[in-house]
Amino acid sequence: MEKIQEVQQDGLKAIEECSNLEQLNQVRIDYLGKKGHVQSLMALMKDLSKEEKPVFGQKVNVCKQTLTAALEQKQEVLKVEALKNQLVKEKIDITLPGYKPVVGTVHPLMMIQQELEDLFVGMGYSVAEGPEIELDLYNFERANLPKDHPARDMQDTFYITPQTLLRTHTTAIQMRVLEASKGQLPIKLICPGKVYRRDDDDATHSHQFMQMEGLVVGENITLADLKGTLKFFAQKMFGEDREIRFRPSYFPFTEPSVEVDVTCHMCGGKGCPVCKHTGWIEILGAGMVHPNVLEMSGFDSKKCSGFAFGIGLERVAMLKYGIDDIRNFYTNDVRFLKNFNRFD
Ligand code: PHE
Repeated sequence: MEKIQEVQQDGLKAIEECSNLEQLNQVRIDYLGKKGHVQSLMALMKDLSKEEKPVFGQKVNVCKQTLTAALEQKQEVLKVEALKNQLVKEKIDITLPGYKPVVGTVHPLMMIQQELEDLFVGMGYSVAEGPEIELDLYNFERANLPKDHPARDMQDTFYITPQTLLRTHTTAIQMRVLEASKGQLPIKLICPGKVYRRDDDDATHSHQFMQMEGLVVGENITLADLKGTLKFFAQKMFGEDREIRFRPSYFPFTEPSVEVDVTCHMCGGKGCPVCKHTGWIEILGAGMVHPNVLEMSGFDSKKCSGFAFGIGLERVAMLKYGIDDIRNFYTNDVRFLKNFNRFD
């Protein structure tokens, strides 16, 4: 009887001391399992008298039920505790700030390109593109620059083969469009794109840069049309009170050719460091399409005429945003690029 009492007390104590379900399960095996303490009490029966046996058996049963009930109760308590622990462990702190995804920005040159496209498309121009690896034919020959023409030196060229090269100007696109038009008029287009020249890179030179050239061919197109168009462009890009002026220049594909200046947007023409105290900033090259160019592409230069202009996008961006080194556009330093983020 004492033994039963001892097993029951020890068992209850062991149950009480359990702090998790695994321990409790071990206690269950130790006490109620086939080789457990309760079962070994039964083995003591064989030494008892007939009368004692039922009383003893009953006591063992009570002990077994007591321990079983205590185990179940403890199990419930531990289950609830385990669930609580799990909930605490898996708790998500929704007050923590999340990770902000890094959003890219539109490249400043793309912004200028888009702005210019909007401006010219608004005037009825269409946008044309062409290959960066170009034939000598479209880059030079058709632009009135035959082999050995001294003006080829104006654009030091990356040749791939004697007949193919990295285009040196987007004039090559114009020559392709002229050919494809098969004499049909009018032609009114802009052609943006990358161009390449063998230059040593420095603050104002880059072996790769971007241009947007314009071409208009039709009947009675005059230098006055060119001037009106470029004045509109200058005012939209640099401010409504900008003026422009033409200075004589030379390009093989235009005659006459002009260099176009715009009044300084920093000082309004009074003179400042940006315009080197002249009040004017040189902005682009332009001219009336050379009759040779029209004829070579199948147009009758007596019946039609045209103008062309070439804008350097880096130059426009540098003037507009006050950037002093062209290399900034190509080194992709996010601190530079972030300055132009329209979405922040
Ligand atoms: N193609 C010339 C250049 O790259 C620019 C230009 C275009 C000049 C059209 C006149 C007319 O320098």
